[in-house]
Amino acid sequence: MSLSTQRLDHFLAKQCQISKGKVRLLLAQKRVCVDGTVNCSIEQSVNKFSKISLDGTVLQDNPAYYVMLHKPVGVVCATKDKQHSTVIDLLPFDFKNQLHIVGRLDLNTSGLVLLTNDSRWSEAITQPEQKIEKTYQVTLEKPIDNSYIDGFKQGMYFKYENITTQPADLTIINQHCAQVILTEGKYHQIKRMFGRYRNPVVGLHRSQIGDLTLDNSLTPGQSRHLTEHEVALFNKV
Ligand code: URA
Repeated sequence: MSLSTQRLDHFLAKQCQISKGKVRLLLAQKRVCVDGTVNCSIEQSVNKFSKISLDGTVLQDNPAYYVMLHKPVGVVCATKDKQHSTVIDLLPFDFKNQLHIVGRLDLNTSGLVLLTNDSRWSEAITQPEQKIEKTYQVTLEKPIDNSYIDGFKQGMYFKYENITTQPADLTIINQHCAQVILTEGKYHQIKRMFGRYRNPVVGLHRSQIGDLTLDNSLTPGQSRHLTEHEVALFNKV
Protein backbone atom coordinates (compact mmCIF):
# COMPACT_ATOMS: atom_id res chain seq x y z
CA MET A 1 0.00 0.00 0.00
CA SER A 2 2.58 2.60 -1.02
CA LEU A 3 1.68 6.23 -1.50
CA SER A 4 2.33 7.07 -5.12
CA THR A 5 4.12 10.28 -6.00
CA GLN A 6 4.38 12.23 -9.22
CA ARG A 7 6.34 15.21 -10.47
CA LEU A 8 4.78 18.60 -9.79
CA ASP A 9 4.86 19.56 -13.49
CA HIS A 10 2.96 16.35 -14.41
CA PHE A 11 0.37 17.09 -11.75
CA LEU A 12 -0.15 20.69 -12.91
CA ALA A 13 -0.23 19.89 -16.63
CA LYS A 14 -2.88 17.24 -16.06
CA GLN A 15 -4.91 19.07 -13.43
CA CYS A 16 -5.01 22.39 -15.31
CA GLN A 17 -4.97 20.89 -18.83
CA ILE A 18 -1.99 23.04 -19.84
CA SER A 19 1.35 22.44 -21.58
CA LYS A 20 4.61 21.77 -19.72
CA GLY A 21 5.83 25.13 -21.06
CA LYS A 22 2.92 26.92 -19.41
CA VAL A 23 3.60 25.02 -16.17
CA ARG A 24 7.23 26.20 -16.25
CA LEU A 25 6.03 29.78 -16.63
CA LEU A 26 3.55 29.51 -13.74
CA LEU A 27 6.31 28.18 -11.48
CA ALA A 28 8.78 30.88 -12.56
CA GLN A 29 6.10 33.50 -11.81
CA LYS A 30 5.67 31.91 -8.37
CA ARG A 31 1.93 31.48 -8.89
CA VAL A 32 1.94 27.90 -7.61
CA CYS A 33 2.07 27.14 -3.90
CA VAL A 34 2.97 23.65 -2.59
CA ASP A 35 2.71 23.01 1.13
CA GLY A 36 3.04 26.70 1.90
CA THR A 37 5.95 27.54 -0.39
CA VAL A 38 5.97 29.23 -3.80
CA ASN A 39 9.61 28.32 -4.47
CA CYS A 40 8.72 25.15 -6.34
CA SER A 41 10.75 23.26 -8.91
CA ILE A 42 9.27 21.37 -11.85
CA GLU A 43 10.76 18.05 -10.87
CA GLN A 44 9.79 18.12 -7.20
CA SER A 45 7.52 15.26 -6.28
CA VAL A 46 4.05 15.61 -4.84
CA ASN A 47 1.61 13.06 -3.43
CA LYS A 48 -2.05 12.99 -2.52
CA PHE A 49 -1.42 14.89 0.74
CA SER A 50 0.54 17.77 -0.86
CA LYS A 51 -1.49 20.97 -0.57
CA ILE A 52 -1.34 22.60 -3.99
CA SER A 53 -2.87 25.89 -5.12
CA LEU A 54 -2.63 28.13 -8.17
CA ASP A 55 -3.18 31.90 -7.80
CA GLY A 56 -4.76 31.13 -4.43
CA THR A 57 -7.25 28.61 -5.86
CA VAL A 58 -6.91 25.23 -4.18
CA LEU A 59 -6.14 22.42 -6.65
CA GLN A 60 -5.61 19.71 -4.05
CA ASP A 61 -6.02 19.56 -0.28
CA ASN A 62 -6.54 16.06 1.12
CA PRO A 63 -6.17 15.83 4.89
CA ALA A 64 -4.05 13.06 6.39
CA TYR A 65 -5.51 11.43 9.48
CA TYR A 66 -3.61 9.79 12.34
CA VAL A 67 -5.56 8.15 15.15
CA MET A 68 -4.75 6.09 18.25
CA LEU A 69 -7.29 3.66 19.64
CA HIS A 70 -7.36 1.80 22.94
CA LYS A 71 -8.48 -1.54 21.51
CA PRO A 72 -10.57 -3.60 23.91
CA VAL A 73 -10.43 -7.40 24.09
CA GLY A 74 -13.05 -9.02 21.80
CA VAL A 75 -12.83 -6.47 18.97
CA VAL A 76 -11.21 -7.56 15.75
CA CYS A 77 -8.44 -5.62 13.98
CA ALA A 78 -10.11 -5.61 10.56
CA THR A 79 -12.16 -3.18 8.55
CA LYS A 80 -15.09 -5.62 8.18
CA ASP A 81 -16.07 -8.77 10.06
CA LYS A 82 -19.24 -10.85 10.05
CA GLN A 83 -18.90 -12.09 13.64
CA HIS A 84 -17.24 -9.42 15.77
CA SER A 85 -17.26 -5.67 15.92
CA THR A 86 -14.17 -4.12 14.36
CA VAL A 87 -11.79 -1.37 15.43
CA ILE A 88 -13.35 0.78 12.68
CA ASP A 89 -16.83 0.33 14.24
CA LEU A 90 -15.49 1.87 17.46
CA LEU A 91 -14.27 5.11 15.88
CA PRO A 92 -16.46 8.24 16.16
CA PHE A 93 -14.92 9.95 13.08
CA ASP A 94 -16.83 10.48 9.82
CA PHE A 95 -13.63 9.75 7.83
CA LYS A 96 -13.15 6.37 9.56
CA ASN A 97 -13.73 4.33 6.41
CA GLN A 98 -10.68 5.95 4.78
CA LEU A 99 -8.37 4.53 7.44
CA HIS A 100 -6.22 1.43 7.48
CA ILE A 101 -4.78 -0.36 10.51
CA VAL A 102 -1.07 0.03 11.29
CA GLY A 103 -0.07 -3.35 12.76
CA ARG A 104 -2.83 -5.61 14.00
CA LEU A 105 -3.51 -7.10 17.41
CA ASP A 106 -5.23 -10.43 18.02
CA LEU A 107 -8.90 -10.56 19.01
CA ASN A 108 -8.07 -11.17 22.66
CA THR A 109 -5.23 -8.62 22.87
CA SER A 110 -5.93 -5.09 24.11
CA GLY A 111 -4.04 -1.84 23.80
CA LEU A 112 -2.54 0.60 21.36
CA VAL A 113 -3.71 0.42 17.74
CA LEU A 114 -2.84 3.11 15.21
CA LEU A 115 -4.95 3.97 12.18
CA THR A 116 -4.22 6.33 9.29
CA ASN A 117 -4.90 7.07 5.63
CA ASP A 118 -1.20 7.92 5.07
CA SER A 119 0.52 4.78 3.80
CA ARG A 120 4.01 6.32 3.85
CA TRP A 121 3.61 6.89 7.57
CA SER A 122 2.23 3.41 8.26
CA GLU A 123 5.06 1.83 6.28
CA ALA A 124 7.56 3.69 8.46
CA ILE A 125 6.10 1.75 11.37
CA THR A 126 5.43 -1.66 9.83
CA GLN A 127 8.32 -2.27 7.43
CA PRO A 128 10.47 -4.96 9.11
CA GLU A 129 13.74 -3.13 8.36
CA GLN A 130 12.53 -0.16 10.45
CA LYS A 131 12.73 -2.44 13.54
CA ILE A 132 10.23 -0.31 15.48
CA GLU A 133 9.88 -1.63 19.04
CA LYS A 134 6.45 -2.76 20.22
CA THR A 135 6.02 -3.06 24.00
CA TYR A 136 3.59 -5.57 25.53
CA GLN A 137 2.47 -6.43 29.06
CA VAL A 138 1.92 -10.17 29.30
CA THR A 139 0.11 -12.14 32.00
CA LEU A 140 0.97 -15.85 32.16
CA GLU A 141 -0.94 -18.80 33.55
CA LYS A 142 2.16 -20.32 35.19
CA PRO A 143 5.10 -18.70 36.99
CA ILE A 144 8.00 -17.45 34.85
CA ASP A 145 11.70 -17.52 35.67
CA ASN A 146 14.98 -16.07 34.41
CA SER A 147 15.43 -18.82 31.79
CA TYR A 148 12.76 -17.07 29.68
CA ILE A 149 14.95 -13.97 29.35
CA ASP A 150 17.69 -15.84 27.43
CA GLY A 151 15.19 -17.79 25.36
CA PHE A 152 13.52 -14.60 24.16
CA LYS A 153 16.89 -12.91 23.55
CA GLN A 154 18.31 -15.81 21.51
CA GLY A 155 15.28 -16.01 19.24
CA MET A 156 13.07 -19.01 18.49
CA TYR A 157 12.78 -21.01 15.31
CA PHE A 158 9.25 -21.04 13.84
CA LYS A 159 9.02 -24.00 11.51
CA TYR A 160 5.83 -22.86 9.78
CA GLU A 161 7.41 -19.61 8.50
CA ASN A 162 10.97 -21.04 8.51
CA ILE A 163 12.28 -18.03 10.44
CA THR A 164 14.08 -17.39 13.70
CA THR A 165 12.57 -14.57 15.70
CA GLN A 166 14.62 -11.39 16.22
CA PRO A 167 16.09 -10.92 19.69
CA ALA A 168 13.27 -9.92 22.02
CA ASP A 169 13.61 -8.22 25.38
CA LEU A 170 11.79 -9.81 28.30
CA THR A 171 11.64 -8.18 31.73
CA ILE A 172 10.06 -10.06 34.62
CA ILE A 173 7.61 -7.85 36.51
CA ASN A 174 6.46 -10.54 38.93
CA GLN A 175 5.92 -14.33 38.89
CA HIS A 176 3.03 -14.13 36.41
CA CYS A 177 3.70 -10.85 34.58
CA ALA A 178 6.36 -9.79 32.09
CA GLN A 179 7.06 -6.94 29.75
CA VAL A 180 8.12 -8.03 26.26
CA ILE A 181 9.58 -5.77 23.56
CA LEU A 182 9.44 -7.06 19.98
CA THR A 183 10.86 -5.45 16.84
CA GLU A 184 8.68 -7.54 14.52
CA GLY A 185 5.16 -8.94 14.47
CA LYS A 186 4.82 -12.56 13.45
CA TYR A 187 1.46 -14.31 13.69
CA HIS A 188 0.52 -14.80 17.38
CA GLN A 189 4.20 -14.21 18.13
CA ILE A 190 4.10 -13.65 21.89
CA LYS A 191 1.66 -16.50 22.52
CA ARG A 192 3.80 -18.84 20.44
CA MET A 193 7.00 -17.77 22.21
CA PHE A 194 5.53 -18.47 25.65
CA GLY A 195 4.07 -21.63 24.15
CA ARG A 196 7.65 -22.96 23.95
CA TYR A 197 7.59 -22.99 27.74
CA ARG A 198 4.11 -24.54 27.74
CA ASN A 199 2.95 -21.43 29.55
CA PRO A 200 -0.32 -20.04 28.18
CA VAL A 201 -0.75 -16.28 27.85
CA VAL A 202 -3.88 -15.25 29.74
CA GLY A 203 -3.60 -11.49 29.15
CA LEU A 204 -1.83 -9.43 26.49
CA HIS A 205 -1.78 -5.65 26.19
CA ARG A 206 0.26 -3.40 23.87
CA SER A 207 1.24 -0.18 25.62
CA GLN A 208 3.75 1.35 23.22
CA ILE A 209 4.88 1.49 19.59
CA GLY A 210 8.32 3.08 19.22
CA ASP A 211 8.24 6.18 21.44
CA LEU A 212 4.48 6.51 21.15
CA THR A 213 2.67 5.45 24.33
CA LEU A 214 -1.03 4.64 24.63
CA ASP A 215 -2.73 7.69 26.20
CA ASN A 216 -3.78 6.43 29.61
CA SER A 217 -6.78 8.75 29.65
CA LEU A 218 -8.33 6.62 26.88
CA THR A 219 -10.53 3.87 28.26
CA PRO A 220 -10.93 0.66 26.19
CA GLY A 221 -12.83 1.56 23.01
CA GLN A 222 -11.86 5.25 23.07
CA SER A 223 -9.71 6.94 20.44
CA ARG A 224 -8.21 10.33 19.61
CA HIS A 225 -6.23 12.11 16.92
CA LEU A 226 -2.45 12.03 17.33
CA THR A 227 -0.69 15.31 18.04
CA GLU A 228 1.78 16.69 15.46
CA HIS A 229 4.59 15.69 17.76
CA GLU A 230 3.31 12.09 17.94
CA VAL A 231 2.97 11.85 14.15
CA ALA A 232 6.54 13.12 13.77
CA LEU A 233 7.91 10.30 15.96
CA PHE A 234 7.98 8.12 12.82
CA ASN A 235 9.95 9.20 9.77
CA LYS A 236 8.06 8.56 6.58
CA VAL A 237 9.78 6.16 4.17
N1 URA B 1 1.66 -11.38 19.92
C1 URA B 1 0.52 -12.09 20.00
O1 URA B 1 0.54 -13.29 20.25
N2 URA B 1 -0.67 -11.44 19.81
C2 URA B 1 -0.74 -10.11 19.54
O2 URA B 1 -1.84 -9.57 19.40
C3 URA B 1 0.46 -9.38 19.48
C4 URA B 1 1.64 -10.04 19.67
